[in-house]
Amino acid sequence: MVDLTLSPITRTDHAEDALDLAMRAADYVTLEVGHAPNMDFIDSFFTAAPPGLTERDLLHFAIMEGPAMVGMLCIAKGYELPEDWWIGLVLLDPAFRGRGIGRTVVHLIKEAAQAEGIAALKLSVLEANPRAMHFWIREGFLPHRYATATADSDGHNRWVLVYDF
Ligand SMILES: CC(C)(COP(=O)(O)OP(=O)(O)OC[C@H]1O[C@@H](n2cnc3c(N)ncnc32)[C@H](O)[C@@H]1OP(=O)(O)O)[C@@H](O)C(=O)NCCC(=O)NCCS
Repeated sequence: MVDLTLSPITRTDHAEDALDLAMRAADYVTLEVGHAPNMDFIDSFFTAAPPGLTERDLLHFAIMEGPAMVGMLCIAKGYELPEDWWIGLVLLDPAFRGRGIGRTVVHLIKEAAQAEGIAALKLSVLEANPRAMHFWIREGFLPHRYATATADSDGHNRWVLVYDF
């Protein structure tokens, strides 16, 4: 498995690093939000909590390969259920994709979640992102429900996936 660490990051100290990573990974950000990454996207990454939660329920990490920040991720603790962790985003620099880093990151998230007694991991995948769907299914996640775009949503259809411990 790839030798990685998950290093906690905050908006105060790491917004520029996160923006730099998001700009390298602009392909995905543009697919999701319809424009290149900017500081609003980074603010949202650090502060946007799912319904019923606050910023204090969010965990943010830089994915580090040695000294290099190769990705970032966000987890919301306690969504959709108190014993769920919701993976809000896993985003890798394109230069580091397809080398097993994603698999190692999922392994580290599963280890941390199990240590906290979490019952399930959940996330949503854009229907327009079939390679990510393939990745999560390979990592043992299963379709949980299908969320169709609504008149006031961002226009994406999504699959919600679940991994039960
Ligand atoms: C999805 C992602 C986290 C997977 O991490 P990874 O390190 O590339 O994945 P691994 O090397 O462990 O596994 C490779 C598999 O990931 C999937 N994958 C998804 N997007 C990929 C990409 N852009 N490049 C390479 N593999 C990708 C493929 O299924 C691939 O399997 P394959 O080789 O049979 O095609 C990473 O590719 C990424 O950050 N993609 C862009 C952002 C994204 O889609 N995030 C997930 C949102 S739900």
